[in-house]
Amino acid sequence: MNKRLNILRLTMLLLLLAMLAACSSNGRKKHFVIAVSQCSEDVWREKLNEELRIAALYYNNLELRIKSANDDVKLQTEQIDRFADDNVDLLIVAPGQVTISPAIDRAYEKGIPVIIFDRRTRSDKYTAYIGADNKEIGTSMGEHLASVLPEGSNILELCGLSTSSPAIERQQGFDSIVALRPTISIVQRLHSDWTEQGAFKVVDSLLSHPYKSFDCLFAHNDRMAVGARRAAKKHGLDVNKIKFCGIDAMPQKGGGLPLVNDGTLFASYIYPTRGDEVLQLAMNILTGKKYKRENQLSSALVTSDNARVLIMQNDETVRQQDNLFTLRTRVDKAANDFNTQRLYLLILIIFMVLLIAAFAYSIRAYFTKARINSKLKESMDQQRRMTEDMEQMTKTQLQFFTNVSHELRTPLTLISGPVEQLLEDSSVHGTQRSMLEMVQRNTRILIQLVGEILDFRKVQNNKATLHLNHFALQNELRTWADDFRAVASRRKIKIEVDTSAVETEAMIIADRDKLEHIYFNLMSNSLKYTPEGGTITTSLEHKDGFYTMRVADTGKGISAEELPRLFERFYQAKGAIGGTGIGLSLVKAYVDMHQGDIHAESEQGKGTTFVVRIPETQPGYDADKDQPATSQATDRNMVDDSYVSTDTRAEALAERITNAEDFDNDRPLVLIIDDNNGMRAYLRSLLAEKYNVAEATDGKQGLEMAHRYIPQLVVCDVMMPVMDGIEFTAKLKEDTATSHIPVILLTARSLQEQREEGYTKGADSYLTKPFSGSVLLARVDNLLRSRTMLRSIFSGGSQEAEDEERLGLQDQNFVARLRETIKNNLANSDFSIERLGEEIGLSRVQLYRKVKALTGQTPVELLRKARLVKARRMIELTDKAVSEIAYEVGFTSPSYFNKCFKDEFGVSPGALRDSSGV
Ligand code: FRU
Repeated sequence: MNKRLNILRLTMLLLLLAMLAACSSNGRKKHFVIAVSQCSEDVWREKLNEELRIAALYYNNLELRIKSANDDVKLQTEQIDRFADDNVDLLIVAPGQVTISPAIDRAYEKGIPVIIFDRRTRSDKYTAYIGADNKEIGTSMGEHLASVLPEGSNILELCGLSTSSPAIERQQGFDSIVALRPTISIVQRLHSDWTEQGAFKVVDSLLSHPYKSFDCLFAHNDRMAVGARRAAKKHGLDVNKIKFCGIDAMPQKGGGLPLVNDGTLFASYIYPTRGDEVLQLAMNILTGKKYKRENQLSSALVTSDNARVLIMQNDETVRQQDNLFTLRTRVDKAANDFNTQRLYLLILIIFMVLLIAAFAYSIRAYFTKARINSKLKESMDQQRRMTEDMEQMTKTQLQFFTNVSHELRTPLTLISGPVEQLLEDSSVHGTQRSMLEMVQRNTRILIQLVGEILDFRKVQNNKATLHLNHFALQNELRTWADDFRAVASRRKIKIEVDTSAVETEAMIIADRDKLEHIYFNLMSNSLKYTPEGGTITTSLEHKDGFYTMRVADTGKGISAEELPRLFERFYQAKGAIGGTGIGLSLVKAYVDMHQGDIHAESEQGKGTTFVVRIPETQPGYDADKDQPATSQATDRNMVDDSYVSTDTRAEALAERITNAEDFDNDRPLVLIIDDNNGMRAYLRSLLAEKYNVAEATDGKQGLEMAHRYIPQLVVCDVMMPVMDGIEFTAKLKEDTATSHIPVILLTARSLQEQREEGYTKGADSYLTKPFSGSVLLARVDNLLRSRTMLRSIFSGGSQEAEDEERLGLQDQNFVARLRETIKNNLANSDFSIERLGEEIGLSRVQLYRKVKALTGQTPVELLRKARLVKARRMIELTDKAVSEIAYEVGFTSPSYFNKCFKDEFGVSPGALRDSSGV
């Protein structure tokens, strides 16, 4: 991953460098700074500066810095020094005066190439010179004047600044020619500062005094010629007659060229600026190209003959220059655009490359990820399949255990029931009794074991719930511990219980049966592993909202590695004695259900302590549902040192009525009332094949259930706590709702008086224990079939009376009231079954069950029958219209009445009326 990231970074860096390189490709040539030091400011120099600037445009890498000294030698010296300090690449100097040479020398000596331009100094410390030949210019002008001036003409020479080289050289050239021509002469020689104003002053001053007249005035430049002409005009001289000549021949308005052209000046001389050539020379020097040290610019005389042509030429040059400039601007713009576009293109390319790289990377990453994912999925699938297989295996195994356990429970109860009955017979003695007791004990152990497996499955399937009780755990604990004393003393093990740390009145809210199960399991576990002479100590604490119960033994102890695994399902510690490995895991599950925790502490050779911590209360406690501690959760008699477990009483109570999924609406409901778990289970297993079964543990509970569910039959033990079977039967038979229910009483004692008492109280049958299962079933079947069924209660015939006589008094009363109430309400079409029940004092369910049991018909059918019987009588005996009769007996629709009537009597009301002849 990191490697890939580095490659990506490197690519980006390279691209960035490429971009920078591309951007700077324009600056590959060295950048030059050329300094120009102009001695003065005037049109000639402005033209020159402009030409330099235009020429500089042709070089992208050139910076031009121009400074003008305004004819101030000191200022020019300073400016040159500053340029040198700035380390300019080349210096172009037009020295104001020949004396300026030291500053130029300094720059030159510093290694800066120096071009002397237009004027010279006395020093030869310069790289190159470029300019016109001023002496030649003076000579040419002298020759021209000599040739055109009439003989005897006087010339006034107006020289430039005496310390500037052009003035010196021009004068030398001019004078040398005039000296050779005797026809003309120089009458006066004046000096000025190259300016028009300076010339005006000098000539004005000359003319203000007596002077020698002159025919021609030769000034060293056009500006001075113009100034001198102005002064001459001022003094009244005829300027048109005097020939004013100058030098420079500048082409622009007011320049020498147009002045010669319009006759203001007689002649001028082109003094070339040629900024382009100056800059070319400079670039040649800077770029190491070949160049000449002395460079002469050509010039020419301007007279009225060629001035016009020259102006035109100049205009053309200017136009072309303008064109060039425009072109140049366009080229620059195009170059600029090109550069910008190139940059954009580059950015685009980079972007594209990055995009492609990113795309390629994503595709690669996608495929890599897909590959990894598919591998991962494959291995996960494999794992899932393995887990599923394992889960399925475990499920199948557990289901197998559960099925086997269920299968075992029925035969086990079928063994334990008869054994219990046999043991209740006092005539069984000696070896037979002890053998039977052994069978009983081992059957119970097996039942407990099976129960434990089923309990465990229940926890596993999340079907186990807490049935909360409010009780004193400290008291219960002492009682529970007592049950182990007999077994313990047989093995010389001491049982100690210390609950002194808990306040006497402290009460816990928890599932008592489950806590009992926890305790019994821990105790039986300790009993298994405590050797003779050992001690098992139970202690209880109540602190910070929790109860902590400790069961400590003096057994051999459990190794540290095994301790945390003790509560795992099916785990059996090394050297475990018997058991299934379920006990402790069920204990843990019950502790967890209470939001508590359990752990074991052990020291090998010294013993083990189980510590259980349970909160003092649980959410959702309902005092109304709190069951008092009725019977033992565990049958104390079977506490044994080989196995201890819980019973299924709690579940039996929870399932008082046949399990919902087994309930069959077409089967009669039989209520079993017996305080003995084994007997109840035995009876259930006998009856469950053919009937729906409900269970109660004493007469009181049985009565409540009978009242609520109206069973078709009750099988009831006689000897029971709370309410015995005799009292139960009496109460059942007294109650209108239940009086019709047949009762079979069971007792171990075959005492005649009990039997008689039972019958007196209304028992329908008696069975003496031990009884055979088939006898019981036959008896139940018989009773259900031979129940008194009233064929009719509205016929009023002798058969009806006969049937009713066989009923008990209570039921006879019930039938009478039922009949009476129905008869009274026959015409009332709003009369409902609820109202019927209310008037008789039974709930809808009770009425339904009772009427169905007595008549085989539902109350609705009974009511309809009564109405139809009355209607029949009315059809036969009165002449009322059939529809009228229908309304009178409570039918709201005559057509429905017709249908019901025909269904009941096989003849329609109309046909009956016809045949009865009424
Ligand atoms: C410009 C100028 C010109 C003249 C030249 C001599 O400054 O005065 O008129 O010809 O200098 O250097």
